[in-house]
Order: sequence, then C-alpha cells, then structure tokens
Amino acid sequence: MKTEDFEYVCTYVREQAAIVLEPGKEYLVESRLDALARKKKFESVDALVAHLKRHPNSEMHRSVVDAMTTNETSFFRDLHPFEALRKVILPELLEKRRADKQLNFWCGAASTGQECFSVLMTIAEHCPELLQWNLNFIATDLCREVLSRAQAGRFNQLEVNRGLPAALLVKHFERHGDEWEFSDALRKKVQFREMNLLDHWPLFPGTDVVFLRNVLIYFDVPTKKAILSKTRRLLRPGGYLFLGGAETTMNLCEQFDRVVIEKATCYRAVD
Ligand SMILES: C[S@@+](CC[C@H](N)C(=O)[O-])C[C@H]1O[C@@H](n2cnc3c(N)ncnc32)[C@H](O)[C@@H]1O
Repeated sequence: MKTEDFEYVCTYVREQAAIVLEPGKEYLVESRLDALARKKKFESVDALVAHLKRHPNSEMHRSVVDAMTTNETSFFRDLHPFEALRKVILPELLEKRRADKQLNFWCGAASTGQECFSVLMTIAEHCPELLQWNLNFIATDLCREVLSRAQAGRFNQLEVNRGLPAALLVKHFERHGDEWEFSDALRKKVQFREMNLLDHWPLFPGTDVVFLRNVLIYFDVPTKKAILSKTRRLLRPGGYLFLGGAETTMNLCEQFDRVVIEKATCYRAVD
C-alpha cells in the first residue's frame, strides 16, 4: 500500500471515529482494506483508495471506517465485572432504586452484543425482579454491521463456546440450524442504536451503569478525556462505569472513584 494512501485512510478514520492507526499498522490497514475491496468488487486496494479520493465523504468512506473497527468481544468477557454486578451492584441498585423502579443501563461499543446480553443474563439469573422495573437498556456502536448482528441476537457455535456457560446457553438461547438465537424476551429489553462516541449522545441522563469496555484503547488522550468526562455527566452520582482491563480513568478524569470489588475494578461517579 502506498504511504500516501495509508496516510489518507488513517487521517480520515481518525477524524471520523477517533481511532488512531499509527505507522507500523500498514499491514492491518491493508489487510482490512483488501477484504473490503474484494467485497465491494474493486480490483485492488489502490483502486478502492482512488475511488475514495475521487468521491469525498461517500458511502464507501463509511464502509472504510467500519472496516477499521476491531470488534473482538465474547460472552462474560473478563468475567469479574459480571461478578461485581451480581454480588454488589445489582443488589445495591435493587435497594437504592426501589422507590421509582427505574434503571438506565448503557453499553457503549457493544459490538456484536455478547456484552449487553451477558449483563441481561446476569440480571435475569440473579435479580430477575429488575426485569419488571422500567429498565432502559441501550446498546450502541459505530459499526453498522456488528450492530445489526447484535440486533439479530444470533451467534455461531464458536461464539457461544467463548465464555458462555452451557447452562445459560440451554436456558437463554434457541437453536436455529447452525446458529443460536438469544431469548426474544431478553433481547427486546435492549434498544440498539448506531452511535459514534465522537458525536451527540442521545442517551438517558441519570444512567446507573455504563459498560464502555475496550474502546478507549483505540483513542488518543484528549479523546479519552472528553469521552470520560461526558460519561461522568451521563451517570447518576454513585453510578458505575466499567472499562476494559487495559483502560482507566486515572489521570484522565478525576470525577470517578476507583472501586475494587473482589477481582473487578470499576469506577464510581463522584457526587
Ligand atoms: C473491541 S470492541 C469492544 C466490544 C465490547 N465492549 C467488549 O469489551 O467486548 C470495540 C468496539 O468499539 C467500536 N468503536 C470504535 N470506535 C468507535 C466510536 N468512535 N464510536 C462508537 N463505537 C466505536 C467498534 O465498532 C467495536 O465494536
């Protein structure tokens, strides 16, 4: 791939999605563009980039941004956050919010949905009463393809083999040929929305729990700071934020207290 084409794509992706692709990532960028070029019937990556340059801000640009997202996820990823939810946070919310029976959850960077469905299974298994409350559960992602997969709630065998206990598979999924479909009743509790973290957030102020895991790692420091401070404003005082294992609010946003719940680390919005 030509250096100038690599730079053109990286600049565009950074402007649009904040994803930082530095020199050294040429192989990653080229292999993803190669897959996209084949899918969209371009002769080569060069031809795809030439098309982008001839048609500024086209639909193809959007596909390039989607192609540059890393959508790696799994059920109950890292497990400990879900244990913290089960043992401490859900019982606390059950107590604190009993009067108005209103709860707001947000999964930013939801990818193909395993994370938000893991949260819902945790609620269904350990605090089913919450499902009778006014539960607003929003899952968002920038990438349209993963979002539509999340919305469909269908997973292949490999995906359900990653992190999902057999008992939960049997209980909350139905087999359809080679795929497993997540419970209709639980899936309907989630509103899926396309949302770029750089844009306006049409979410619920007074959110109780935010999962924003394994996405800040792709951003530069000013973007991380801006997103964390926006997340703090979205959360209720005392609300919880979960980040990925390699992410933190430390030195980025002082409006969170770091809370350790057994083996999980989460961040509580300060009053
Ligand atoms: C590695 S996945 C994380 C999935 C899940 N949160 C987890 O931890 O398993 C990162 C997700 O962030 C999304 N993403 C990247 N940049 C984004 C942006 N600017 N706005 C919204 N979502 C973004 C990608 O599309 C991708 O699905």
